[in-house]
Amino acid sequence: MSISKTADGIYKLTTNMEGILFEGIWEMPHGVALNSYVVRGEKTAIIDGFCGWDGVPETFFKMLDEMEVDFEKLDYVIINHIEPDHSGWIDEIKALKPDVEIICTKAAENLLKAFYGEIGRIRTVRDDDVVDLGGGRRLIFYCIPNVHWPDAMVTFDEQSGALFTCDAFGSFGLVEGEGYDEALSPDKRVFYEREAVRYYANIIATFSPFVKRAIEKCEKLPIKIIAPGHGIVWRKDPEKIIEDYRQYASYASTPARREVVLIWGSMYGMTQLAVKRIIETVEKSNVVFKVHQVPETSWGTVLASVLTATGVILAMPTYENKMFPPMAAVLDEIGKKKIQDRIAFRTGSYGWSGGAERELEAICDRHQINWQFLPSVEFKGKPSEEELDIIEKSVIKMIKEIDRLFTEKTID
Ligand SMILES: Cc1cc2nc3c(=O)[nH]c(=O)nc-3n(C[C@H](O)[C@H](O)[C@H](O)COP(=O)(O)O)c2cc1C
Ligand SMILES: [Fe+2]
Ligand SMILES: [Fe+2]
Repeated sequence: MSISKTADGIYKLTTNMEGILFEGIWEMPHGVALNSYVVRGEKTAIIDGFCGWDGVPETFFKMLDEMEVDFEKLDYVIINHIEPDHSGWIDEIKALKPDVEIICTKAAENLLKAFYGEIGRIRTVRDDDVVDLGGGRRLIFYCIPNVHWPDAMVTFDEQSGALFTCDAFGSFGLVEGEGYDEALSPDKRVFYEREAVRYYANIIATFSPFVKRAIEKCEKLPIKIIAPGHGIVWRKDPEKIIEDYRQYASYASTPARREVVLIWGSMYGMTQLAVKRIIETVEKSNVVFKVHQVPETSWGTVLASVLTATGVILAMPTYENKMFPPMAAVLDEIGKKKIQDRIAFRTGSYGWSGGAERELEAICDRHQINWQFLPSVEFKGKPSEEELDIIEKSVIKMIKEIDRLFTEKTID
């Protein structure tokens, strides 16, 4: 755990975590950082987290000393969102300081009781409610339901302009150094942008309509610092991460970037012959192109690419009257994340009955996927030269369609 000063009277506690699957599902090739905060007025509040604390009281007191916090004045624990990555330490703090008051939304109170049982004093808050820490320091709360659970809220510190946002505006990626945006090199900026896309696609994408509402609400505040529960703190340019999130939320329901993603799987190399032609064709264009084989590539990586792509090419064979199973699993997950408005094309091999195409239709129906599909090209066994030519033409058509969309966007 590292402690750094975020603003006058505000400290950030950061813990890097790696080698785990987030939510037990999502691979994090570059780990994740968990942040919590301490805000000092005459009284002190802890906001989110404390994950890196080992639960030993001496460590806790040492941390408080480092932040010049008087234990007696530690009056509040603010829980913006109760998911255990932000609240897993609550029993230990309550054991040390039973009279501490927990501040959270009504929805969080219900969840806290379900997850931790009776945990003592709780004050529930709504939009515009205030906790006065004294010394001119007031914290104001705003609910942002479903970013990421129904209980979520943000906490605004009037004095510094810091908005503590928990899961909103977060990113994956371990944090080196103190983890503030002004210290990021251009390379690191690109790195955290990619990690923010991966985090958004994997954790937040399903809730994009709620993200839009949360942004509208937060934007009315005079924000000077965005202090999330995951990743980098934005204090030089808080507008940057807000704008990025606005874009990610829009990518879930409109054409995204001038990008094409090819997701493919093949057992004996028949579908792979089509994949080879697809790759050669797309590489002749200048769209950004990502290629992922399943099951070799994790769902999380595929989802991150689908979030930013406008064109999605699917290539997989039939397997036991259905779709090649790892592809069906990935598509199901894309459907659940409600990523809409893509231009898509599917190809693949079959032996006798086919079935992959039927399952694709079933998955699209199940999740009401509204993608605009070009006619699929299925081939028996190995693709013929004619079939490969039709596949090539379909891919060219997709790229032209994407180009048309983006030229129109530029003219706008
Ligand atoms: C385990 C297994 C199950 C299959 N089930 C079907 C099937 O139900 N219907 C069908 O038309 N082809 C089926 N096939 C045939 C494949 O779809 C066919 O071999 C195809 O060419 C495989 O393409 P690939 O080499 O790209 O994996 C099956 C193949 C395997 C290995
Ligand atoms: Fe969460
Ligand atoms: Fe979280």
